[in-house]
Amino acid sequence: MRGKKPKDAAQKGGNGAVTRRDFLRGASLAVSTGLLAADGAAVASPPESSAAAVVGPGKVPVTLRVNGQVHRLELEPRVTLLDALRNDLDTTGSKRVCDRGTCGACTMIVDGKAVYSCSLLAIEAEGRNITTIEGLMKDGRLSPVMQAFIDNDAQQCGFCTPGFVMAATALLAERRHLTPEEVNRGLGGNICRCGTYHGLRLAALEAAKRMKA
Ligand code: FES
Ligand code: FES
Repeated sequence: MRGKKPKDAAQKGGNGAVTRRDFLRGASLAVSTGLLAADGAAVASPPESSAAAVVGPGKVPVTLRVNGQVHRLELEPRVTLLDALRNDLDTTGSKRVCDRGTCGACTMIVDGKAVYSCSLLAIEAEGRNITTIEGLMKDGRLSPVMQAFIDNDAQQCGFCTPGFVMAATALLAERRHLTPEEVNRGLGGNICRCGTYHGLRLAALEAAKRMKA
């Protein structure tokens, strides 16, 4: 992530790793100073001469499009996308582990990009297409990435697995011809404490082959 705007703050970088410093820089604008426009869009720089309305700290209406469904919520502007989904929508597939943009357990896909949802405000996700692990199944069938994770025994405790599946799904949506090194880099923003890296990298490569076929 090299985004200058808080809206892009949680996106992973080209090597899959998120830069906490960049997020904190963005968040300090969006959260600490409460610079959130009335329409939910984060203001990128202090509006010295602008008359942009400030919202919060109380609850404000926030509309989120999650897995194709529109949800109207009342949230404090400080609430992260991860907490909004887990606490208000009971959508708990994305896990809260480090809660600071380090482990990737909370990875969701927002407008086609893998993001750390613990590091993106829910209000910043308004108007964007949010996909969680719950949204990957179609007609009761596992997605190719999900199936490849099972077939390659790519999980132990499973706590990191939804995040890895989402990161691999975003990676394969961009490109289906991937070398092992590119898979390593693409999944480099996620951590597995059980050490199932061998299996999950095989799973991503196999999913790529199946999707190409
Ligand atoms: S819980 Fe979001 S990166 Fe760890
Ligand atoms: S399978 Fe346990 S943390 Fe990855």
